[in-house]
Amino acid sequence: MNDKEIVLSGIRATGNLHLGNYYGALSKFVKMQDDYDCLYFIADLHALTTTPDPNILHENVKNILAEYLAAGVDPDKATIFVQSDVPEISEMYLLLNMHVGIGELMRTTSFKDKARKQLGIKNGSDDEDIEKQIIGTDSNKRVNAGLLTYPTLMAVDILIQKAHKVPVGKDQEQHLELTRRFARRFNSFYGVDLFPEPQNFNFGDHAVKVPGLDGSGKMGKSEGNCIYLIDEEKVLRKKVMRAVTDEGPKEPNQPISEPVQNLLTLMELTSAPEIVQQYRDAYADCSIRYGDLKKQLAEDILKVTTPIRERYNDIRNDDAFIGRVVRQGAERARERASKTLAEVREIMGIRKFY
Ligand code: TRP
Repeated sequence: MNDKEIVLSGIRATGNLHLGNYYGALSKFVKMQDDYDCLYFIADLHALTTTPDPNILHENVKNILAEYLAAGVDPDKATIFVQSDVPEISEMYLLLNMHVGIGELMRTTSFKDKARKQLGIKNGSDDEDIEKQIIGTDSNKRVNAGLLTYPTLMAVDILIQKAHKVPVGKDQEQHLELTRRFARRFNSFYGVDLFPEPQNFNFGDHAVKVPGLDGSGKMGKSEGNCIYLIDEEKVLRKKVMRAVTDEGPKEPNQPISEPVQNLLTLMELTSAPEIVQQYRDAYADCSIRYGDLKKQLAEDILKVTTPIRERYNDIRNDDAFIGRVVRQGAERARERASKTLAEVREIMGIRKFY
């Protein structure tokens, strides 16, 4: 266990998991657990940056835990824990923030997107405009400081476990780049060699971007274009049958339109290569029937999701099992985190008198 590289990743507790989470993160979690020393967690503190309803936050954490387990993350192989069960993370977050610039945080894409949403300003507005609004705005329409320091907290999740590999989707690459920068900065400021620089991890050669069903863009909870892992069969089929396409190819070998390409991308993830090729050929010779493509796609997605949904329903109701898993996970995660935190405190000169 000790000489294996350390893998760490988490998912924000903001709702049920969809196919984007599955292919971007969860399926990699399962594949990596045999070969690496893996820690997977539920980021409930990160969920607070977008102020969820306190009544549903805890349910969301439980849903995702059950989804991890249902998808095959094995508590005997990997450490599964809840972020807030490791209070060392919150303390180190305060300490690391002393080495993080507000400018570099404000320039993060995800911050600008979410700040725009919190202020209710349009997509087109330029960065200067956003900055002015952030600083000049009154307390009713504010951008919370937790959102700004989201990347510090994420860096701490990773650095406190001294992780080498962080399997995440494309949208998280900027956060990971910041994590590496903070690690280098800390090491060089104090002249230590404490933190490894973590790398993203993909089984192919690039991070996957899973498209939604609405013709353009990625699958995302806030876009309303998702297929959830626990969607009932009927619901799932209906969503796929309603997916946006085009009017059909007008001439042979014309370039594939974005909405149709999106469905083929989903098919590449879920269906056999021959089947995908068959539909590509049918598009090229104009014989394609979108109804057939969608039926096939729904069928192949269900092959992936049905076993997960079935296990989910059992696990979700087994409070004792979930409790055992996260308790054991928290113990293991804290053991390492408290060691790193003690080192960080010592390095920064925070020592006790008693
Ligand atoms: N920011 C990640 C997301 O939104 C979640 C996350 C928080 C995370 N801390 C992390 C992912 C540490 C990997 C490692 O998906």
